Amino acid sequence: MRRVSGSPPGSHEKFLGLEEFVDERERLVGELERRVKSAEKLALSHSLDHKILCRISRRQPSALSLSEHEIVFEIETSTYLKSPVNVGDYLAAVNCANLQLVLLEIVSVQRADILSIVGREAPITVAPPDPSGLATPVLVAARPLTAFDYDERSGGFKEVPRPVVLPLEPQSPIFRPKPELVAKLLGLPDEGVVVGCLLTSSLLPLAEIPVKIPLKAFLQHVLIVGSTGSGKTTFIKNMVAALVAGKDYRVESGMKPTPVIFDATGEYVQLVLPPPKWERPDLDLEEEERIREGIYAGIEPPNEIVVLLPITKEELEKILNCIREAARGITGGELARKVAEKLAKDYVDEVLLKLLGENIERLEVEKVDTVEMEESTVRILETSLKIRISSREICVRVVPLALEFARAKRDLHELSPDFSTQARHFLPRIIRVLEEDIIGREFRSLEEFAASVDEKRNVLMNRYKIHRGTLDNISRCTWALVDTGIFDVSIPAGEVSISIGEPSDYGALLSSAKGIPVVVDLHRVSDAEYIIVHRLLRQIFRWKYDAYERREPTHQVIIIIDEAHRYFPSAGFGERDSLELLARQLTTIARLGRMRGLSLVFSTHLPDDVHRVILQLSNTKIAFRSEPQYLERVGIPPEYRERLANAPDRVAIIRSHIFRSHYAPVKTTPPLVGHYDLSAITLMRTSARGGSGGGS
Ligand SMILES: Nc1ncnc2c1ncn2[C@@H]1O[C@H](COP(=O)(O)OP(=O)(O)OP(=O)(O)O)[C@@H](O)[C@H]1O
Ligand SMILES: [Mg+2]
Repeated sequence: MRRVSGSPPGSHEKFLGLEEFVDERERLVGELERRVKSAEKLALSHSLDHKILCRISRRQPSALSLSEHEIVFEIETSTYLKSPVNVGDYLAAVNCANLQLVLLEIVSVQRADILSIVGREAPITVAPPDPSGLATPVLVAARPLTAFDYDERSGGFKEVPRPVVLPLEPQSPIFRPKPELVAKLLGLPDEGVVVGCLLTSSLLPLAEIPVKIPLKAFLQHVLIVGSTGSGKTTFIKNMVAALVAGKDYRVESGMKPTPVIFDATGEYVQLVLPPPKWERPDLDLEEEERIREGIYAGIEPPNEIVVLLPITKEELEKILNCIREAARGITGGELARKVAEKLAKDYVDEVLLKLLGENIERLEVEKVDTVEMEESTVRILETSLKIRISSREICVRVVPLALEFARAKRDLHELSPDFSTQARHFLPRIIRVLEEDIIGREFRSLEEFAASVDEKRNVLMNRYKIHRGTLDNISRCTWALVDTGIFDVSIPAGEVSISIGEPSDYGALLSSAKGIPVVVDLHRVSDAEYIIVHRLLRQIFRWKYDAYERREPTHQVIIIIDEAHRYFPSAGFGERDSLELLARQLTTIARLGRMRGLSLVFSTHLPDDVHRVILQLSNTKIAFRSEPQYLERVGIPPEYRERLANAPDRVAIIRSHIFRSHYAPVKTTPPLVGHYDLSAITLMRTSARGGSGGGS
């Protein structure tokens, strides 16, 4: 006999009769039955294969405590053999108690022969094999991760991930959840740039679950690390292709972001090319194709690209000489246009056409922009080339780039890490006194300025009290800058000079490239790459800063710096405190840039090689295969370190506040766009040529 539940304790206790007890029991069982049925119905409607896989074990208690989070269930051998469950896989259950939908992660799978369960005989001999002994249920343990509450009104679930605070009732149905349900339960961002498919904690791909980085998260900057060949560049290229395709994020119309890539190796212009065949012996092609179809459907190489191409004085001279030889008598604007064409065509030939061989159907110059400047100078602005490859029309806009003393003099002291602290301090003043007081006019070139520093050395020392050592440093560093050949690229050609400079308006250039990748191809100017990266970074930042001050809306610009250690090293670099200066500048750009829609993505092989501020500034870190100690440096938790240290190519862990669990293992496919090893191809061609030469 039991007290009627709900009646107050004390003298008025009323006891149930047997019949009432049976009735109540029946009611309870009826209610339980209803809940089990509802749970089953819900499970079936959210199951990937419309099947219940198994139920929470009746044989073991199901307990949840603050320290223990494991539940156990058994799967029929036949079901298991048809479709095994793996450690790390996600399953889901509907709790019969409250109809909560619970996401489960498998933590262990146990197989036991019948002998280990019922074997009572003393182990005197080895038991002979008996396949029927294997017909035992598979014992699985799983960890409840998060849950959706049942919504009585809609008869579905409230799609807000909640912690699991009740044990799953024994007999609750377990099923394989639909991929989109897993994504929602895990709280993965539902919009953003697709960067790969989700992996289980055992690093098995879930080909239909995209991992997206919201555009907003890029504003808190990203660091990518991974040893050589682990897949950083492939990852970036695939990410840029997804960014340009823009189908997984929302953005105000006409405000698609521009990815700007600083490219030390000349690989990124290949973005517009078709991808290479995926044919490495270690590839599971079926799996890679499933990922491509699952998350990258419709993503193609971009049809347009802007290349900012640094041109040195020497190179312009070479081109000019070639043209003069080929077409004597051409002068003025016509000559400048020819130079512009040749410069663009030679470049496209080197970095694209050579890779494709016969596949090019057509190459033509669509447009050449030049402008007449003062003092009979013609400036080359941009050349658009149209290329047709396998019936795709691609536009490559080549924008030649050089620096001008007149425009860069304000920042000159920041363009070389070798200026001493004193030199950096005095340089703007020295330029001013030389131009205004001593020479009386503005310098036309960096070379003129360098020569003037040497020539007026005594005046600067005696009248302006500039220290000898400071002048020595300024002279040495300025001449080194001159030697890069990237300043004041202007060459007389008959009645005009042909010149190359900086874009007159970076904002206008980048605004003309919304949703179009901009590549700063540095592979031919290794002496000047540092200067160019810092100058451009600063100029883009300035445009953003000024527009913000004027309250003009600008579109998001995502600056990607592959091989970032070349430009933001951690040590062994320049004058004593130039690293600190660099760090301060970068911090300003990163902090203020955030509000103004400027994002930075750094990629490097070792986190220790880039300046430590980069680690601090990047809220999202993406780690590919690396030594465990480097993974620790970027905050990858111990349980992932060992696995990631031995992970295959293109597998990474993303550590970011954008994920509820702070981590997401991802994998991207082999390149979705052109990705060819320029040096290997050049080598191949050279050796092929060498071979035939030897035979003739
Ligand atoms: N066409 C292809 N098919 C299949 N796999 C490819 C293809 N091209 C490259 N890969 C694979 O992608 C891997 C990653 O190459 P990727 O250039 O992205 O590496 P990385 O991390 O940028 O290296 P590095 O530090 O040398 O620049 C390579 O090791 C290679 O195995
Ligand atoms: Mg690379």
